[in-house]
Amino acid sequence: MSDRTVSGEVSSFDEQFELSLRPQRLAQYIGQHKVKDNLRIFIDAAKMREESLDHVLLYGPPGLGKTTLAYVIANEMQVGVRMTSGPAIERPGDLAAILSALEPGDVLFIDEIHRLPRAIEEVLYSAMEDFCLDIVVGKGPEARTVRLDLPPFTLVGATTRAGALSAPLRDRFGVLLRLEYYDDDSLAEIVRRSATLFDVTIDTQASDEIARRSRGTPRIANRLLKRVRDYAQVLGNGDITHGLANQALELLQVDPRGLDHIDHKLIQCLIERFRGGPAGVDTLAASIGEESMTIEDVYEPYLMQIGFLQRTPRGRVATYLAYEHFGYEQPQS
Ligand code: ADE
Repeated sequence: MSDRTVSGEVSSFDEQFELSLRPQRLAQYIGQHKVKDNLRIFIDAAKMREESLDHVLLYGPPGLGKTTLAYVIANEMQVGVRMTSGPAIERPGDLAAILSALEPGDVLFIDEIHRLPRAIEEVLYSAMEDFCLDIVVGKGPEARTVRLDLPPFTLVGATTRAGALSAPLRDRFGVLLRLEYYDDDSLAEIVRRSATLFDVTIDTQASDEIARRSRGTPRIANRLLKRVRDYAQVLGNGDITHGLANQALELLQVDPRGLDHIDHKLIQCLIERFRGGPAGVDTLAASIGEESMTIEDVYEPYLMQIGFLQRTPRGRVATYLAYEHFGYEQPQS
């Protein structure tokens, strides 16, 4: 799954160049207008009151810019930022070490916050609410609790599954922001901005083409741009034209809607073996040799977004749009 060109998940290959492309300020951040408008107000209000920003929960599919937004928030608030992730914090002591090293007002970014161990989550409650930590020192009858005061800070939590967060944790975020898939215009603008930063020339049709095939996801758009740039360098004079982009994307096996061979396998299996469904996700998963959870979290969200797949109480169903896209005759019923 991680070697898919069109996966929204971050790969080690992305990390380096994402850093160089990342917008620093809200004004440079393209798309997500609702999220930006809200943040602008909350940030300005907090600054006027000279307070730290309320805790922010960012949720939505991978690759839409949750980490980028955490940096943008810190830059706008003119504070430092400390990054970690749910699975990286194993013991309460790990969290205590991170929290006690923060400067007043700092942003603490916890990626995949839904994967935080439950025991740590409970320590986090008092940190978020009262800016203090109750730590148990010693063992057995000697054990006692020590209260540690913390500087005020802003927790920015990110998750792809807001539903997997416990209610007490979710309730402690003052600001909940849902990131949506980007429209093609915003993605094309991101592609052109990145091309400028890469110092390559790209024509408008080419940036539109890359945008259309990027599944609403900037991380994918930037990854495709990088691959297309390689083709342009080797097969052309380095400039990215529409023809060249089309040729490169075809070779990368990313179809005109941004679907790759695994999406094809999933939909074709549903149509050919299950007459378009309904088919249970476990049955479908077994048929194509993938994990059910991977199908639910990684493949289905975009297929549902573009109206190719429906989740019904009786199972997954391929829509007429899917039949059309994959060149099947529409079923009679
Ligand atoms: N690069 C990746 N995501 C971006 C965004 N939303 N705006 C600007 N540049 C980006």
